[in-house]
Amino acid sequence: MFRSSVALTAAVRATGVASGAVPAAGVASISSGKRAASTASGFKVAVAGASGGIGQPLSLLLRNSQYVSDLRLYDIVGAPGVAADLSHIPSKAGVSGYGKDDVEAAFADVDCVVVPAGVPRKPGMTRDDLFNTNASIVQSLAEAIASAAPNAFVCIISNPVNSTVPIVAETLKKAGVYDPKKVFGVTTLDVIRANQFVGHNQNIDPKELDVTVVGGHAGTTILPLLSQIEGAKFTDDDIAALTHRIQFGGDEVVQAKDGAGSATLSMAVAGARFTDRLLAAASGVSGIRECTFVESNVADTPFFSSRVQLGPSGAEVVEPIGPMTAFEQANYDEMIGTLGDQIQKGVDFVNRA
Ligand SMILES: NC(=O)c1ccc[n+]([C@@H]2O[C@H](COP(=O)([O-])OP(=O)(O)OC[C@H]3O[C@@H](n4cnc5c(N)ncnc54)[C@H](O)[C@@H]3O)[C@@H](O)[C@H]2O)c1
Repeated sequence: MFRSSVALTAAVRATGVASGAVPAAGVASISSGKRAASTASGFKVAVAGASGGIGQPLSLLLRNSQYVSDLRLYDIVGAPGVAADLSHIPSKAGVSGYGKDDVEAAFADVDCVVVPAGVPRKPGMTRDDLFNTNASIVQSLAEAIASAAPNAFVCIISNPVNSTVPIVAETLKKAGVYDPKKVFGVTTLDVIRANQFVGHNQNIDPKELDVTVVGGHAGTTILPLLSQIEGAKFTDDDIAALTHRIQFGGDEVVQAKDGAGSATLSMAVAGARFTDRLLAAASGVSGIRECTFVESNVADTPFFSSRVQLGPSGAEVVEPIGPMTAFEQANYDEMIGTLGDQIQKGVDFVNRA
């Protein structure tokens, strides 16, 4: 276990941080003996998979979030090192790293767990090809959440999101702690890609856009609703090309990385944006609406990504899909069966004999 100094060990005792935690120096700032309060002063947030390609930049961004007072980094390898590194960035917030056997301590009583743990795609793979490995990882993390942080918001990044979110829901249900308002599939990368691609097509600053992307998070299940962008004017060819690029933008990165993984930096920005907005809403900021994959009845599948009004209890209002053009409706009709199958695959995984 990483210990940077005797003083640090003393700080561990002073803070009462559970054994197994490896608090880095920044933790001294919450060493008054008080637990970090889940109020305007900040939330306790754990990142599971914190040493990975997404986990490290995501943790860096969360380190700088005004809504995070206590950042817990968990991974089966390397999290104490990442925590020590981040602890040298000036912040009042605490940051600590936890190793393989310390998942319960990492998650103890946190307000939010963000999960980018698992293997990423290689060229030629679909997200569904990751199912066999990532399903078990996500299930075991959900079991730990059920036991150590049953009231936490859970933000799932690990693919295939269309299946891993139902896996989390079923696992929490089995433990009797499932709250559908608190389990989110992070589909924000599809939104920021859409903002970027549409912004350049329409000569609008992408930062001013917030494109509604519904459905799921894999290939054709990703359905951007370009017709709902106020003031935009597209040709039919633009719509077909942009829709395809938003659906398969992840493949561009997988191919360009040539076997070294999938989107990490853009995903970290997307994951931090979603987490930050969720925590802002939880702390009382009103009017926050994000597209996210949640349990709902707005479509023909039990989980669906659409715009969701976030608030202190999580997903407070799931908004309807809204008007679709014939092109969008045809895409919806074509993919909804696939999305339903991928959701069912996650449900069946947890309930297998
Ligand atoms: N939702 C999205 O839009 C989106 C976008 C890109 C990638 N992803 C997914 O995110 C996941 C992570 O991608 P990455 O590029 O960071 O991969 P990576 O291999 O770089 O990192 C994954 C990390 O998870 C850790 N890990 C593995 N098993 C674990 C466990 N049981 N508990 C805790 N940590 C564990 C690994 O040690 C590693 O550090 C992949 O499933 C990928 O497909 C999702």
